[in-house]
Formats: sequence, C-alpha cells, structure tokens
Amino acid sequence: MRSLRGQVVLITGVTSGIGRSVAERLAGAGARIVGCARDGDRLTDVGRAEPGWDLRRADLTDPAERAALVDGVLADHGRIDVLVANAGIGWEGLVEDMSGDDVEQVYRTNVIAPADLARRVLPGMLDRGDGAIVFTSSMAAFASVPPLTVYCSTKYAVDGFVEGLRREVWTRGVRVHSVNPGPIRTEWLARSRGARPAEGEIEDGPGAAGARVPRSPGAPVEWVAAAVHRSLVRPWSRTVSVPRVVGLGRLAAVQPVRTAVDVATGLNAGRIAHRARRLAEQHTPH
Ligand SMILES: NC(=O)c1ccc[n+]([C@@H]2O[C@H](COP(=O)([O-])OP(=O)(O)OC[C@H]3O[C@@H](n4cnc5c(N)ncnc54)[C@H](OP(=O)(O)O)[C@@H]3O)[C@@H](O)[C@H]2O)c1
Repeated sequence: MRSLRGQVVLITGVTSGIGRSVAERLAGAGARIVGCARDGDRLTDVGRAEPGWDLRRADLTDPAERAALVDGVLADHGRIDVLVANAGIGWEGLVEDMSGDDVEQVYRTNVIAPADLARRVLPGMLDRGDGAIVFTSSMAAFASVPPLTVYCSTKYAVDGFVEGLRREVWTRGVRVHSVNPGPIRTEWLARSRGARPAEGEIEDGPGAAGARVPRSPGAPVEWVAAAVHRSLVRPWSRTVSVPRVVGLGRLAAVQPVRTAVDVATGLNAGRIAHRARRLAEQHTPH
C-alpha cells in the first residue's frame, strides 16, 4: 500500500460533489490538498470550511488558466504527486437542440482540460519516476444514449485517453486510474447550464456545504471518494466502476445488447425528446 501522507494532490472541481468529497477523503489520509474551480464565491465558501486547503480559481476551459494553475502549483509546492482530473459538466439535451457553443463547452471542460492538465503534470512525474493521475470518467462511457449523447461521447474520449496514456507511462512509474461512476447525488446537471442558487434550495446531507442547487438522484459522493482513495494507494493502475454493479453497463457494447439499446432508444425517441426538453427548461436559469 502506498501512503498519501504529505503528497501534493491537485484536484479539479473541488467546490462541490465528487471533487469536494475526494478532497475531504484524501486530506483525511494526510495529503496536501490543492483544489481549483471557476466560481470564486464557492471557492471562498470552501476555503472558510477548509482553511488548510490551497484553493485556486481557474476556468479550465481556458488554456492560459490551465497553464497558470499548473505553473503556480509547481512554483509554490515544488511538485504535483497526484492529479485528480475531476471537473466536468453534464448536458442533458438532444444534439439538435444544442448550440455550437454548448457542444464546445462540454468538450473543453470534459475532454480538452483533463487531457491538457495530464500533459502538463506528466514531465515532473516522469522525471521522479513516480506519480498518479485519476480521471473521473463515467458509466456514460459504456453506452452513448440520448439525451446524453454529447456528454457520453466526452466520457468515451476520456476512457480512450486513459487507456492510451496508461500504455505510454506504466513502465515509468506513473499510474493512470479511471473511476467510472454511475448516477451520483450531485448538482452536475443543474450547474452545467449555469444554474445559480434558488430560494429555499439548500444543502441536504453530509459534505453538502456550499451546495446550492437541486441534486440529481444517485449514490453518495463518498462512494466515489473511497474508490479514488483505494486506487491511489495501490501500486498499479486501476479502472473501477462505482458502484461496482454499474460496470455491467459495459455489456451494452456487446451484441445483441447493443442492438437492443438501438431499438429501445428508437422506439422511445419521442418520450426521450420530451423529457430532455422538460429538464432543459427546469435547469436553465431565466
Ligand atoms: N453526478 C453524477 O451522476 C456523475 C456520474 C458520473 C460521472 N460524473 C462526473 O463527475 C465529475 C464531477 O461532477 P459532479 O457530479 O461532482 O458535479 P458538480 O457537483 O457539479 O461538480 C463539478 C465541479 O467541477 C467544477 N467545474 C465545472 N466546470 C469547470 C471549469 N470550466 N473550470 C473549473 N472547474 C469547473 C465545478 O466548479 P464551479 O464551482 O466553478 O462550478 C465543480 O467544482 C464530472 O466529471 C462528471 O462528469 C458525475
């Protein structure tokens, strides 16, 4: 088992949901937490609750802010032992209803940013012959289904990146982990459309400080945090689904399950479109 004590861990998307929970868990294991997010007010809230964390504002869709983030952490801490590339946004909507900017925003956040951050932290890890990168992927990487087509495709990209990167670096001391959660109780769908706090919508459970918008249903964030922690103390790279049972979703890539999914989504296309538009209406701030 590897120890996280004193390790410099950079976690993206630390202001809520999975990232916040991962930070709490790894801090409890003795790691030095450096966290980032784009929303300064939420970072301030987290900083009040966790004065020992080094929190930095960065919009990860901006290449200059990604560079400044990594350079700043290296300058102040000397190294990055672990990167948890977690920040991401969901998007529930049919492709025909999305603007070009919407598609770019989801890809920049979920694919370009984690790949570029990995590229930036790797040289130090390879020089030391030691380091770990964890990607928060999703069960959405197992089957691309409307109305989550664009979101799912970003997570396919993340899994493809993980697979190749692991093959590039595994003999040189760097572990590349992928955590593929199923539905988890967070704000991801509401926040992705820029939703802000609404009257009366407040936190609803442990680790919920800073939560301001309704959560989607699912398993607790702590399950994902535990999976990330278990991966980081192992000496080898891991791919893990949370909860484990959602790993069965990989069967969706195999015939005849694949055809069954084609038929089911085709037969329910009208219902799917209706639901997507209703949810978009609910989640879009007016
Ligand atoms: N919830 C689920 O059911 C589920 C399932 C599978 C996978 N995932 C994945 O889990 C990851 C975390 O999502 P979550 O469910 O924990 O959602 P969340 O509570 O909405 O957290 C998302 C985090 O990412 C940050 N973020 C978003 N865009 C950013 C940007 N451009 N620059 C910097 N930070 C940004 C947010 O910070 P701000 O404060 O700045 O908004 C927030 O801290 C995502 O990659 C998501 O795809 C979620």
